[in-house]
Amino acid sequence: MTSPAPEWWRTAVIYQIYPRSFADASGDGIGDLGGITAHLDDLAELGVDAIWLSPFYVSPQKDAGYDVADFTDVDPLFGTLDDFDAMVDKAHALGLRVIVDIVPNHSSDQHAWFQAALAAPEGSAERARYIFRDGKGEHGELPPNNWDSVFGGPAWTRTTNPDGTPGQWYLHLFDSSQPDFDWSNEDVLNEFDRVLRFWLDRGADGFRVDVAHGLIKADGLPDFSYDDDTNSMGGVEGPTAPYWAQEGVHEIWRRWRRVIDEYDGDRILAAEAWVVPLSRMAKWVRPDEMHQAFNFGYLETPWKADALRTIIDESIDEFGKVGAPSTWVLSNHDVVRHASRLALTAENPQGHGIGPLSKGLPDPVVGLQRARAASTLMLALPGSAYVYQGEELGLPEAIDIPDDARQDPTWFRTEGERYGRDGCRVPLPWRADAPAYGFSGTGEAWLPQPVQWAEYARDAQRSDDSSTLRTYQRALHLRRELGLATHTLEWITDAPAGVVAFRSGDIEVYSVVDADAAMTLPDGEVLLASSEITDTIPADTTVWLRR
Ligand code: GLC
Repeated sequence: MTSPAPEWWRTAVIYQIYPRSFADASGDGIGDLGGITAHLDDLAELGVDAIWLSPFYVSPQKDAGYDVADFTDVDPLFGTLDDFDAMVDKAHALGLRVIVDIVPNHSSDQHAWFQAALAAPEGSAERARYIFRDGKGEHGELPPNNWDSVFGGPAWTRTTNPDGTPGQWYLHLFDSSQPDFDWSNEDVLNEFDRVLRFWLDRGADGFRVDVAHGLIKADGLPDFSYDDDTNSMGGVEGPTAPYWAQEGVHEIWRRWRRVIDEYDGDRILAAEAWVVPLSRMAKWVRPDEMHQAFNFGYLETPWKADALRTIIDESIDEFGKVGAPSTWVLSNHDVVRHASRLALTAENPQGHGIGPLSKGLPDPVVGLQRARAASTLMLALPGSAYVYQGEELGLPEAIDIPDDARQDPTWFRTEGERYGRDGCRVPLPWRADAPAYGFSGTGEAWLPQPVQWAEYARDAQRSDDSSTLRTYQRALHLRRELGLATHTLEWITDAPAGVVAFRSGDIEVYSVVDADAAMTLPDGEVLLASSEITDTIPADTTVWLRR
């Protein structure tokens, strides 16, 4: 490894790779580890510090790999363990750390343990690793409680006994193919210690922990009053939901921290915990728990100067109180890409997606301009930032995906009422003139790529100095060079109210957010501008200045 700076994660830019859609070396239309290895140079050139890979484990792919059938092997779709080792070696040689996803809330229904549980009798040790319960009603025909699945529909599915009679129900907070583990069971605790060690031994630099606010359910699995709350990937996760943010999860993270700390190399745990407010999310990153938590409060903040200043203050303050860095994130594989989201005119909670019939569809020009301004603002903030593959190309959400091509379980479980997340998962364009824009050699792509995507291709942007790619690259290199992520943020209070303006070391950052806030360019050396400026900084534009 190069540059073994201590606590690298406090300031790192971590690039999320969604393996299915990054690059396909085998030509079957689904991205793979070989494709990642082949393009690591591009990421080093971009200037990120680490990569995080969404799941590539053995899986029937009912939830794009978040339904894991074997936690310690690679799905043949993505390659082999040798391909993983080769990818890690190359990444480390380039100075990139490698974070892998771990999915502890549930397994696939094809996992050997769940198959054994189905075959075993009620009350057996096999069933005790999951959450099986008798149904309500005279014949057990009603689910054990009223919980909804995050993807729509009930969170319970009834089993069929080996003799064909209806059996018990099992809990799945997500798809019916994703049964929840029972984390009060010792087998489950021990198995995940093994999974952690397996990937740490193979050189992983840490884990992004899926659904880190789930795992423990309230005793007795009480009914929940959804009127007081919302249970969607897009709504605010309710402080009272009996399956989110239960105190017991923190014992698990302390246990995991002890495992991680046995290893050298400053390895990390990063929580995907959809918990509000940030003061509560900060519990996940107390000194003996995880290192980072995704700042979804920031992701969900509208493009408004006041709201941005407030969430930035709150983030630095709340994470700071527990000694953790703030993180910043604008896009991932579960939300509408920010080059579209920031220009939506109708409310669109994350995870619901947008499609041809959605209201308030974004203007792509406004969306891209805002996205560039928002990213350039984010990359100047103190702490660690996440970049989702394709945002450096300015990719918008793919809206016109034909109904019969959609694959997100959300689409099926809501019978098309919610478009879901396919629109942010479309395979990347690498080359403007190649089949599948260079994603695969054969022209195959598991989701159709919009025809307009030729203009977003990486090769076209590489040679264009004003492109989104070159802007990200400049921002990332300058951020490192100027130590922007390490400074204390100091608000500039005499800028117009619609401008987010702050000082970081001897750099001043002006982000003209509100529509009517265009301002005169202050004196100084312009180091970076997210879009064209004159002696005025127009709306939806961020500038980095040295005074
Ligand atoms: C997380 C993942 C999402 C997945 C869900 C269930 O929220 O980010 O993609 O569907 O967990 O594992």
